[in-house]
Amino acid sequence: MKRVAVLISGRGSNLGSLIEAAGDSYKIIRVISNIEGAAGLDRAQAAGISTQLISHKDKSREAFDAEIDAALRAADAQIVVLAGFMRILSDGFVRGWEGKLINIHPSLLPAYKGTRVHERVIEAGEALSGATVHFVVPELDAGPVIAQASVPVQPDESPQTLADRVLAVEHALYPEVLRLLADGKVKLHNGLAVFS
Ligand code: GAR
Repeated sequence: MKRVAVLISGRGSNLGSLIEAAGDSYKIIRVISNIEGAAGLDRAQAAGISTQLISHKDKSREAFDAEIDAALRAADAQIVVLAGFMRILSDGFVRGWEGKLINIHPSLLPAYKGTRVHERVIEAGEALSGATVHFVVPELDAGPVIAQASVPVQPDESPQTLADRVLAVEHALYPEVLRLLADGKVKLHNGLAVFS
């Protein structure tokens, strides 16, 4: 059973799906938020998971990341899951957790990295969008893809309706990938996600 820490910045609905799906493969042992009052913290507390606030305010990126790293090591985390964590992590931090750090992004990467994803997908007239779980590398939203789930973009779609439907597939996808990683069935090898 792998010890998993989850980093959040907000609502924490993906965190909720990871908590609900936790079984024999992983246990969420700590939730860390960089935002005070993030709703995801309440979700974690309601599930009996210990929480921690580490604010990024008034400190350098390196100092913030060092605090997060120390908290994760102190909690004995073996896997770190980013779930709506809206901070860019420094290269040193990312290298320290290589192969053990995953993120979910609400697009079919490598398309639509960054923010305002659903607005841009609709503006571009895409027929398909979706969600991607990937290993985190220093470059933003550029890590090796582990799994994706697609969602058709419907006529008269608004960014909100598309976000809602993508979120629904995120909630199914993320626990499945975390289980694979915790069971050692997917690994980062030579810059690629390799399955066994
Ligand atoms: C999710 O849609 C996630 O994919 C996205 O933020 C949302 C968080 O929702 N993440 C990113 O855009 C990361 N670049 P949640 O707090 O309810 O899980």
